[in-house]
Amino acid sequence: MLRTSGGAKLGGEARRGEARTVSCVMAAGAAAMHALLLPLLLLHFHVGVTSAACGNASALSERMDALLAEYDRGAPPSPRMPVRLALIVRHAALDERRSAVRMLADLQMSWEDARLSWNSSVWGCGYAGVPAERLWLPDVALVSAATRGADPAASAGQHARLASDGRIEWTSRLDLSAPLALRLDDWPRDLHNAVFKFASRDHDSDQLDLTVAHAEGQTVFEAGAWELASVSHSTETWRRGDGERRVVAWALGLRRRAPAHALATTAVLAAAALLLLAALLLPPAARPPLCACASFTAAIWLISALVRLPGSATTPLAVELAGALCICGGLAALCAALTRLLAAVTAAPPRRLRSALAAASSLCSLAPESGDGGAGVWAAAALLLDRMLRAALAIALFLVLCLYL
Ligand SMILES: *[C@@H]1O[C@H](CO)[C@@H](O)[C@H](O)[C@H]1NC(C)=O
Ligand SMILES: *[C@@H]1O[C@H](CO)[C@@H](O)[C@H](O)[C@H]1NC(C)=O
Repeated sequence: MLRTSGGAKLGGEARRGEARTVSCVMAAGAAAMHALLLPLLLLHFHVGVTSAACGNASALSERMDALLAEYDRGAPPSPRMPVRLALIVRHAALDERRSAVRMLADLQMSWEDARLSWNSSVWGCGYAGVPAERLWLPDVALVSAATRGADPAASAGQHARLASDGRIEWTSRLDLSAPLALRLDDWPRDLHNAVFKFASRDHDSDQLDLTVAHAEGQTVFEAGAWELASVSHSTETWRRGDGERRVVAWALGLRRRAPAHALATTAVLAAAALLLLAALLLPPAARPPLCACASFTAAIWLISALVRLPGSATTPLAVELAGALCICGGLAALCAALTRLLAAVTAAPPRRLRSALAAASSLCSLAPESGDGGAGVWAAAALLLDRMLRAALAIALFLVLCLYL
């Protein structure tokens, strides 16, 4: 403000009037700022006092010790305790060799305990951290099968966060591993679901009422071979003895990240199918090399896929289709050879063959039949056989493509 009016003075007589207007506006602004500044300064002073008292750790811990001295951590805060759970997944990956899902996550539990509330204006602090082993803790544990890290209470060394109104938040770090029945049908575009269920170990649902806190956002900062596709939760009731327990289940959807495998699979299947299609369009003599090429392509892919695939209860569809194409190639080559052999027969054709061919030629033309020579009959029979086998192979190819797409 001063610099503005000073600059205006230096600017000379002509700008003096303008400068006065500017300084008047600035003075009005300054008055308004003072009116705002005073409460802001007071607020700042107040916040300063509060944070200084919060920062006085010895005073806070003395008060907390006094509060906890009268507190019985063995007794639940109320006969029916609502506890909210939230799961924040940090890492999730599938170990294919062991058929298990490993998950690192934070299980946040929050509940209210009126015995642990205080007057925040007297204490000068609205929050406090307390070692979790000094508090009553909900005995929530993993109840679905897991090999390790099954007990959230194992991380009781963590601090719990207490609010002056009695709200308590406690986060336990989980490192869980759950077995999974590996189904590889959709490999290499497979999606697997692992379920982790939590429930109270010793309390029925009328003593400990578990609910899911909110639809928590998952943040997984990693780019491994597995992508966390979904996290969903559900609540169910589990009858045990004569009581019922509330079970909160989280299902993780893990998708394989293998775009190159998916592309290679599609390319190989398409190449083998196209080679077979081309072979079907050619006369029998030109067919076997293309059929062999198609089968060879599919077989090479099968061998390389089997090296990469883990053992599993199911066969991937892509492997089944590549196997089918491999067999189709062999069958097409065999059919071509049979047709050529049949066309080359010179013996006198049996009567039945003649009548069958006569019936068939009323449906479609069997051109090579010339007069009643034996060779003509065999050539017509070969043509009929060839058409039937080609139709069967075309249907098989169509089915393979339909199944994959
Ligand atoms: C912290 O509180 C104690 C009393 O509980 C007091 O003796 C001490 O001076 C305070 N320290 C500060 C830095 O205010
Ligand atoms: C907290 O303490 C202040 C001052 O001692 C008092 O005015 C206020 O009513 C108290 N608040 C509660 C909720 O007891």
